[in-house]
Amino acid sequence: MTEWQRKRVEWRWRRATVRQELQARWSLRHVDKRGKRAIVLGSPIVDGSDMQVGDDFKVWSGHRTTLISGWGKLRFGDRVFVNVGTTIIAVEEIVVGDDVAFANDVYVMDSDSHGVEGRPHRQAPVRIGDGCWIGARAMILPGVSIGKRVLVAAGAVVTRDVPDDSLVAGNPARVVRQLTYPVGCRRAWHDEWCPCPKVAAVEDGGVEETA
Ligand SMILES: CC(C)(COP(=O)(O)OP(=O)(O)OC[C@H]1O[C@@H](n2cnc3c(N)ncnc32)[C@H](O)[C@@H]1OP(=O)(O)O)[C@@H](O)C(=O)NCCC(=O)NCCS
Repeated sequence: MTEWQRKRVEWRWRRATVRQELQARWSLRHVDKRGKRAIVLGSPIVDGSDMQVGDDFKVWSGHRTTLISGWGKLRFGDRVFVNVGTTIIAVEEIVVGDDVAFANDVYVMDSDSHGVEGRPHRQAPVRIGDGCWIGARAMILPGVSIGKRVLVAAGAVVTRDVPDDSLVAGNPARVVRQLTYPVGCRRAWHDEWCPCPKVAAVEDGGVEETA
């Protein structure tokens, strides 16, 4: 790449970043409390009436609109990523920890909206622990608490609580196995992009142990 081409790429990159920061200001204008460096790509609907997000909140919305809504309590920690087409609707409470990634078309709800056989409808808080990776088209149903660094496989329907450091898959979702990470690793999507101290761990002999 020539110097001129490099500068052109850099300039485009900066322009895209500025556009995404401005889009974040607009799209997140209803958010009560917003951390630093939010980024929004596309035009999601984010209109939760009791919503707070941490630093580095990132939302993408594209061929399908991302929706974060409802009159319940919505809390997102730092470094949360919400991908295209994901729907998160709180009528009571949905609390999401730090370093959580929602893949595309995930559905999270804390209310069934209708009852069954004359019983009142189920409505209960949903909690998603730090470092979880929620795979594409997964669903998380009312009242579910998901532990830390859980990997929810694509298409899983999570109907029950999930313990820390586990992989769950299927409908209804079951624990497939426990997961292990280098000490200090914060995220379930632990790969070469992970900012955890894994490089040091690998250089020291690649010891993988649960933190
Ligand atoms: C979970 C996932 C990451 C694979 O992780 P992995 O550690 O390599 O897991 P494995 O492939 O070893 O699967 C372990 C078991 O779970 C099962 N499994 C994995 N993914 C599954 C899924 N989505 N649904 C049902 N079962 C699944 C496998 O069949 C296997 O079962 P077995 O032990 O009976 O053979 C992958 O299957 C997945 O769901 N990817 C989607 C990622 C995504 O949504 N990306 C979007 C961009 S962020």
